[in-house]
Amino acid sequence: MRTVIRTFCVSVVASALLLGLASETFAEHENKKKVRKVRAASACSAGSSSSVARFKIEKGEALPASIPKALTKKPGNAERGLEAAVNPGKGNCLACHHIAKVLAKADESDPESVKLYGNHGEVGPPLNGVGARFSKAELRMIVVDPKKAFPDADTVMPAYHARTASKDVKRACRGRVMLSAQSVEDIVTFLEELK
Ligand code: HEC
Repeated sequence: MRTVIRTFCVSVVASALLLGLASETFAEHENKKKVRKVRAASACSAGSSSSVARFKIEKGEALPASIPKALTKKPGNAERGLEAAVNPGKGNCLACHHIAKVLAKADESDPESVKLYGNHGEVGPPLNGVGARFSKAELRMIVVDPKKAFPDADTVMPAYHARTASKDVKRACRGRVMLSAQSVEDIVTFLEELK
C-alpha cells in the first residue's frame, strides 16, 4: 500500500512539475510572439521614406552649403512641420533643441500635451530666431544633411534626408531616409517662421 501511495505522490509531483514547465514554455512562447509583433510594428520610424529627392548644393551666405531649390513641388506647411519636428518617430528635434514656440503649446492640464510639447533637450542650440539667422536654403541644408552645413563641427545632429546617414539608423531602416522630402519641406517652412 505504501509503495502505491508513494508512486502516486511521485507521479502527482512529476506531472505538476511537467505541467509547470509546459506552461512556462507556453508563456515564453507567447512572450516571444509579442516581441516579434512589437518589432514588426516599429520596423522603421513613421517619417522614414525610401525615396530620396534630387537636390543641388550651392554655397550659402552664412554657411558653406545650402539647397536653394525645394525638394518637392508641394510647398511646405509650417503647422505640419511643427508636428513632424516634435514627433519622436519623425524629426524628434526636441531631443536636442529648445523651441519656445513649441513649449508655448504645452497645456499644463493635459499630460499628453506636456509629454509631446514640453520636454526640450539642450544638446543643440535653441532654435528660437533661427529663421532670421539662416536663409531658407541654409535651413534646408541643415535638415537634409547638417554634416555638410557645419563641416567643421563634427556634429551629432543626424542627416534627415541623406542615404549616407543610413549607417546611423537601426538595421530595418537602412537604405531609407529619416524624413520624407515633404516632411523636410514642412519642417523648413516651420523653421523659417521662427523669427
Ligand atoms: C542629436 C541631437 C540633435 C537632433 C536630434 C537635432 N539636432 Fe539640430 N543641431 C544639433 C547640434 C549639436 C547643432 C549645432 C551644430 C553643431 O554641431 O555645431 C544643431 C544645429 C541645428 C540648427 C542650426 C542652429 C543654429 O542656431 O546654429 C538648426 C536649424 C537645427 N539644428 C535644426 C534641427 C531640426 C529641425 C531638427 C529635427 C528635424 C534637429 N535639429 C535635430 C543637434 C541635434
